[in-house]
Amino acid sequence: APRKLAAGNWKMNGNRAALAEIDTLIAAHPVPGCEVLICPPAVLLHPMKARVGDAIALGGQDCHAKASGAHTGDIAAAQLKDVGAAYVILGHSERRADHGETDVAVAAKAAAAHAAGLTAIICVGETEAQRDAGETLDVIAAQLDGSIPDGATAANTVIAYEPVWAIGTGRTPTTGQIAEVHGLMRERLAGKVADAAQVRLLYGGSVKPGNAAEIFAIPHVDGALVGGASLKADDFGAIIAAL
Ligand code: 13P
Repeated sequence: APRKLAAGNWKMNGNRAALAEIDTLIAAHPVPGCEVLICPPAVLLHPMKARVGDAIALGGQDCHAKASGAHTGDIAAAQLKDVGAAYVILGHSERRADHGETDVAVAAKAAAAHAAGLTAIICVGETEAQRDAGETLDVIAAQLDGSIPDGATAANTVIAYEPVWAIGTGRTPTTGQIAEVHGLMRERLAGKVADAAQVRLLYGGSVKPGNAAEIFAIPHVDGALVGGASLKADDFGAIIAAL
């Protein structure tokens, strides 16, 4: 089985003072059994890297599809790499919703991430209306087919299943619902990625210390992408311990 990954997505939260949470986290989990990743706002990557060294991995929350150039306000994958990132989250539902990112755009960004030597965490997930309409598996399959670029491998690509209705709501799918989607994702990847069995499949959406162990026991769940609970060292530490 792939090595587990506990990834924290700080979204648009945190500042330099919040970096102290990371010291607490590292002190509490000096040698975690899983890989630990924090994706802070891009402006915090450099100071965070200076603080944590190689104790945990760092990642961005988006990158541009182009390598450089006249794109005001955007950040290139190589620039994330330059300040210490090893990962970048791509196609998060908040970016798909707020910035109109399509599967095609996400695939182009992931290709740029790969070219820069970053591992892309490609996010997929259905809305509540799509789940109610019985479209979940079709939606996930289409997002996977459209968002994963050629050249994806288990080394440069992670997939995160984040049901939109479970993000920041305190609601989570049943274990059966998560198992169904993760099983489909593993199958679907086999048609696209040579080492599909090794690709890490994360679950994200209201992961908390109280539900982490149950979620991590589900087949084909290789870790978590954690939002709100990643901002507090105690909560994220408990989730890491559950992995
Ligand atoms: P929450 O853990 O706050 O629900 O956020 C999940 C998420 O969107 C992580 O990328």
